[in-house]
Amino acid sequence: MTALLSIRDLTITARVRDDDLTLLENVDLELERGEVIGLVGESGSGKTTLARSVIGLVERNVSVAGGEIALAGRTIVSTAHDDRRRVRGSEVGMVFQDASRSLNPLMKVKANLAEVLHRHEPGISHAEVLRRSTEVLHQMRIEDATRVLDAYPHQLSGGLRQRVAIGLAVVTKPALVIADECTTALDVTTQAKVVELFRSLVDELGVGLVFVTHDLMLASDLCDRIAVMSKGRIVEVGTAEDVMDRPQDDYTRRLLAAIPSWT
Ligand SMILES: Nc1ncnc2c1ncn2[C@@H]1O[C@H](COP(=O)(O)OP(=O)(O)O)[C@@H](O)[C@H]1O
Ligand SMILES: [Mg+2]
Repeated sequence: MTALLSIRDLTITARVRDDDLTLLENVDLELERGEVIGLVGESGSGKTTLARSVIGLVERNVSVAGGEIALAGRTIVSTAHDDRRRVRGSEVGMVFQDASRSLNPLMKVKANLAEVLHRHEPGISHAEVLRRSTEVLHQMRIEDATRVLDAYPHQLSGGLRQRVAIGLAVVTKPALVIADECTTALDVTTQAKVVELFRSLVDELGVGLVFVTHDLMLASDLCDRIAVMSKGRIVEVGTAEDVMDRPQDDYTRRLLAAIPSWT
């Protein structure tokens, strides 16, 4: 079967003044349905650039210098044909570090969800919007869905708000979800809950998840495989166990050595 996500030899550059900076260099990565891959690396290693290139959320000075990205066998990004804008939320759901980037603060949770549903399914009925919104909050393990639907984002705790943001990313039933440092702003206990939630979403819905984090320990808790990035390249990719217990690359060893409790 074709992979859900297939990134081949991807090179991405950014025009800065009169120079082309290489942001990503010859990146190869595959992801299957029902699989979680962690993108791990220090700040500035290119994780966000890679995550965003999949959904075409790149800045104007950024371009594809080589390689391609395919979603379920369909090329969505390449040098020759640039289909990026055609990747829709119903195909790829995105969760950001800051839930307020996903949620419109001026609208109640139910209006946020309704807007996304209407955008992807024009003509969807009011009753169906309510049913799907309630259903997705339940999938997010939110029990008092009625209260949460009727709340404004700022009235919710940080953890709850992030779970609503994840709900917003998956309510259109995308096959692929990309989460970029979406637990970084949360405290450790809330982080663990969000990680648990992602695991059950992947297991129950069979989506593929790209989980971006600078936290190797957190990635090893959640991910089936881990790709370690440094300076715009993937320096190592393997099962979470192999990467943690038998790192092949010096950079990965240094990342591991920096974890206080890791021996
Ligand atoms: N549009 C851009 N123009 C110029 N440089 C960029 C642009 N986007 C990202 N970069 C640079 O690319 C590198 C990788 O950034 P990023 O993908 O955000 O890393 P990470 O998410 O791992 O912290 C950084 O050095 C950053 O400054
Ligand atoms: Mg980043």
